[in-house]
Amino acid sequence: MSEQQHKRGVFIVFEGCDRAGKTTQCKQLVNKLNDAGHSAQFMNFPDRTTQCGQLINGYLTRKDDFTDEGIHLMFTLNRWEKMKEMEKLLRSGVHLIVDRYSFSGVAFSAAKGLDMEWCKAPEAGLLKPDLVVLLTLSPEAIAKRGGFGDERYEVAEFQKRVMEKYAMLKDDQYWLEVDADKKFEDLTMDLYKITTDTIHNSESKTLGKLW
Ligand SMILES: Nc1ncnc2c1ncn2[C@@H]1O[C@H](COP(=O)(O)OP(=O)(O)OP(=O)(O)O)[C@@H](O)[C@H]1O
Ligand SMILES: [Mg+2]
Repeated sequence: MSEQQHKRGVFIVFEGCDRAGKTTQCKQLVNKLNDAGHSAQFMNFPDRTTQCGQLINGYLTRKDDFTDEGIHLMFTLNRWEKMKEMEKLLRSGVHLIVDRYSFSGVAFSAAKGLDMEWCKAPEAGLLKPDLVVLLTLSPEAIAKRGGFGDERYEVAEFQKRVMEKYAMLKDDQYWLEVDADKKFEDLTMDLYKITTDTIHNSESKTLGKLW
C-alpha cells in the first residue's frame, strides 16, 4: 500500500463563546478545503436531527425541561450516536471540521455547577480531536456582534462562566487559542493556515480517544 493510502482525515474542533464565529468559520473552512482539493465535511454538536438531538432541541428552545444531569448525558449520547459515522469518515480520508464537541458539553454543565470530573466521565472513549481551536472574544467585542437569542445559555454572565471552564479543560498539547476579534476574511485566512498545518502534521498519526 502506498503511503498516500494510509493517510486519514484530521479531526478539528472549534470551541468558544456564543457569537465568536464558530459556525460561520467552520462552514467557510470546509468550502475552502474542498475548493483546494481536500475532502472535508462540516459537523456540529448538538446534532438536532438525531432522536436524542430532538430531545435536546426541545430543551434548548425551552419546550421541555430536564435535570442538569439528564441533559448533560443527552448531549454526551448525541456525540456517541455519531461516533461510528465520524470514525468511518476519518478513516476514509475525510477531514472533519466540527462546530462544538465534548468541551462545550463539559464546560456548560460545569458552569451550571455540576462536578467537572463527573461531566467528563461519560465522554471518555469518544474520538479525540487532533486540534481544538478556542475562539476568544472580549466582552466588548461580543457586544458588537449580533444580539444573543432567546435560547437557554445565551446570557453574558453564563458565557463568562463557560469561558472559565474552558480554561480548566484547555490542554496545550492539542488546543490553540485564537482571538476572533478581527475581520471575518482575515480570521478565515488564519484558521485555514492552522487547519492545513494540522492536516500536514496529523494525517499520518493514529486517532486518539478522550481524555
Ligand atoms: N469576524 C467577525 N466579525 C464580525 N462579525 C462576525 C464575525 N464572525 C461572525 N460574525 C457575526 O457574528 C454572529 C455570530 O456568528 P456565528 O453564528 O458564526 O457564531 P457562533 O460562534 O457559531 O455562535 P453560537 O455559539 O451562538 O452558535 C453572526 O451574526 C456573524 O455574522
Ligand atoms: Mg454557532
